[in-house]
Amino acid sequence: MPLIELKNVSVRYGEIEALRGVSLSVEAGEVVTLLGGNGAGKSTTLRAISGLTKPASGEIIFEGKSMTGLGPEEIVRLGIAHVPEGRRVFPGLTAHENIMLGASNRSGVSKDQIDQEADAMFDLFSDIRPFQHVLGWTLSGGQQQMVAVARGLMAKPKLLLLDEPSLGLAPVIVSKVFEIIKEIRRRGTTVLLVEQNARMGLSVADRGYVLETGRLVVTGKPDELWNNEDVRAAYLGGHARTAAKA
Ligand SMILES: Nc1ncnc2c1ncn2[C@@H]1O[C@H](COP(=O)(O)OP(=O)(O)O)[C@@H](O)[C@H]1O
Ligand SMILES: [Mg+2]
Repeated sequence: MPLIELKNVSVRYGEIEALRGVSLSVEAGEVVTLLGGNGAGKSTTLRAISGLTKPASGEIIFEGKSMTGLGPEEIVRLGIAHVPEGRRVFPGLTAHENIMLGASNRSGVSKDQIDQEADAMFDLFSDIRPFQHVLGWTLSGGQQQMVAVARGLMAKPKLLLLDEPSLGLAPVIVSKVFEIIKEIRRRGTTVLLVEQNARMGLSVADRGYVLETGRLVVTGKPDELWNNEDVRAAYLGGHARTAAKA
């Protein structure tokens, strides 16, 4: 049984059909990357899973149970954490305080315990340890992204949804973010990752899906997607060919 399964999910925003019958699944322990250009429906897929957007039709099944009709808070409590696009941090809270907020879905855990767990996050996110008591608004884009991912992990999710964690970051920072995703994977957390950067996105994945204007067009293991010339030319970007050889 997959950890999560989308069956024929369609989402509309008024006239726009953002998702058209999307079916995908993620097994426990997998990192699955959803690739696709701007406007393909990647964020909408994650928003549908986390209950922020209601599908017009189709079904989403988590641990064998339908999530139809559940709101975002209930879905977080089931064990799904969503790190949205745009690395939102609370500007007036410190990095450490921002990270602690990620545990707000967990009941029966003391504030001391949460505080200690947030401290431990800086072992994984060691680059931002020196900034843990600095206010959110003073952090760089990459530091904010690390805080956002750390906050997601504080929920102790069964499924972590990451929406374009590399967007707008310098290459050296992108590499660091992906090293962290590899470590998250090593620790056994299941991840559904959304990326426009096909090379980085596939480098951490067990499997990938490619979305084009609301439809899934191809799925496979990372090397299958890379080695398919048509897929590369059409969906993985003009730079993909040279990047794959490098
Ligand atoms: N809140 C919204 N209202 C109307 N249209 C939206 C909204 N959010 C996304 N869309 C549209 O839905 C489609 C898919 O968007 P999105 O899921 O954000 O794509 P991606 O994350 O792949 O860039 C696009 O055509 C986008 O313009
Ligand atoms: Mg998006």
